[in-house]
Amino acid sequence: MDAGLIISLVSRFLHVGTAIVLVGGTTFLRLVVHPTLVTSHPELLADLRQRWKKFVHAGIGLFLVTGFYNYLVVGIPAHKGDPVYHMVVGTKIILALFVFFIASALVGRSAGTQKFRDQAPKWTAIMLLVSFLIVGMSSFVKVRPVPVKTGAAEKQETGSAMTVESAGSSGTKPEEKTAAQ
Ligand code: HEM
Repeated sequence: MDAGLIISLVSRFLHVGTAIVLVGGTTFLRLVVHPTLVTSHPELLADLRQRWKKFVHAGIGLFLVTGFYNYLVVGIPAHKGDPVYHMVVGTKIILALFVFFIASALVGRSAGTQKFRDQAPKWTAIMLLVSFLIVGMSSFVKVRPVPVKTGAAEKQETGSAMTVESAGSSGTKPEEKTAAQ
């Protein structure tokens, strides 16, 4: 196994692992912990949020590093001439920045973001829904058929419009798919 493949594997593992921990933890917080403690032990709930804060900050850092690696180093070279991929991943990145903002506001202390903490159940639910949408979009780009340039289309590329054909699941470089046909 070459070094690039190992780094890609580690990056993907950390990215998906971070999604499991953060989305799973937030689901547990919103659906189990919050309803149980919000009236009986509000101060304990606040303590739990402060402890959760470390995971949120570390998770955002990991998401950004591994996500941009997955996109810039792995995704872009493998999806040249595939605008749908870039549109979906670009939208996903914008939604992820929204989720990072809400997640930071909910565990933060600044006066400017107090209104989000005052309505924590509502904003946690919105954040979860958007997070699941992000997981759906990420899964879509992974399993959708990728347009692959045929040999003839590659020759035409310098001249007229590019021809593409569908070729199974994604994640493989166009030239690898062409070779495999
Ligand atoms: C709330 C934040 C995020 C969540 C929950 C999330 C979740 C996921 C999951 C579950 C996958 C794996 C999909 C699969 O293999 O089936 C994935 C892949 C990916 N993510 Fe994220 N992600 C988040 C943020 C980001 C950010 C900030 C970036 C970029 C800066 C990013 C870029 C990518 C890329 C490029 C892939 C690979 C897509 C492909 O298969 O080509 N993600 N993400």
